[in-house]
Amino acid sequence: MTIQDAIQARHSVRQYLQKPLSEEQKMQLNNRIAEINRQADLHLQLVLDDPKAFDGRLAHYGKFSGVENLIALVGKKQPTLSQRLGYYGAELCLSAQMMGLNTCWVGLTYSRTENMLIGPDEAIKGVMCIGHGATQGQQHPMKAATRIAPDYDQAPEWFRRGIDAVLLAPSALNQFRVTFRLLADGTVEAKAGLSPYAKIDLGIFCYYFEMGAGKENFRWAKALW
Ligand SMILES: Cc1cc2nc3c(=O)[nH]c(=O)nc-3n(C[C@H](O)[C@H](O)[C@H](O)COP(=O)(O)O)c2cc1C
Repeated sequence: MTIQDAIQARHSVRQYLQKPLSEEQKMQLNNRIAEINRQADLHLQLVLDDPKAFDGRLAHYGKFSGVENLIALVGKKQPTLSQRLGYYGAELCLSAQMMGLNTCWVGLTYSRTENMLIGPDEAIKGVMCIGHGATQGQQHPMKAATRIAPDYDQAPEWFRRGIDAVLLAPSALNQFRVTFRLLADGTVEAKAGLSPYAKIDLGIFCYYFEMGAGKENFRWAKALW
């Protein structure tokens, strides 16, 4: 499966089979997480066999079942933390999809457990369930491209491919509070709207845009962080 296939195939999955990750899957995820943590100064953690994170009332309310494994989205408290967790979390989410696994981002409906290591100078911004889904999930209701990119119809093909990818991304409450613009100097601006998860969403969208548009085809108007 290519990353483009993974972008199409990924949907949030909230019910999981009681089937553990393989040793190969654990190793691949742990290796990539270690690399990201080093490179991006994050403290992402693969937490295995921890059903307590999703056995409370909140998880039940959120229709989660069989969640045993997750990636804890942790890093040092810094203004750019949420956006970086979104960006690198999106990469991990699509890597998991390519390994035949399913995922769901969770900002709210989980419980913290002692297996999530959060230092005094760190914050957790949510978790990502990971495992063998009972189903492959469902395509979310799509927003119109012009809602997140007002100039979509006049834009070059690479820009439109970027936006097409973003529209398939996970987004808190499926809100897509973001605006992408192709500026006169040829660079791309991505601006978060207002919502409690807008910064995480923005990081996710920027990763998806890069994968859709091709990093070689454009530059961001300003550094992502
Ligand atoms: C930052 C973030 C937080 C989320 N929090 C929750 C959550 O607390 N509970 C939940 O059931 N889904 C949560 N989701 C999943 C979204 O509801 C889901 O991504 C969205 O509805 C789009 O569906 P899709 O992921 O299947 O494309 C979250 C997604 C993101 C990106």
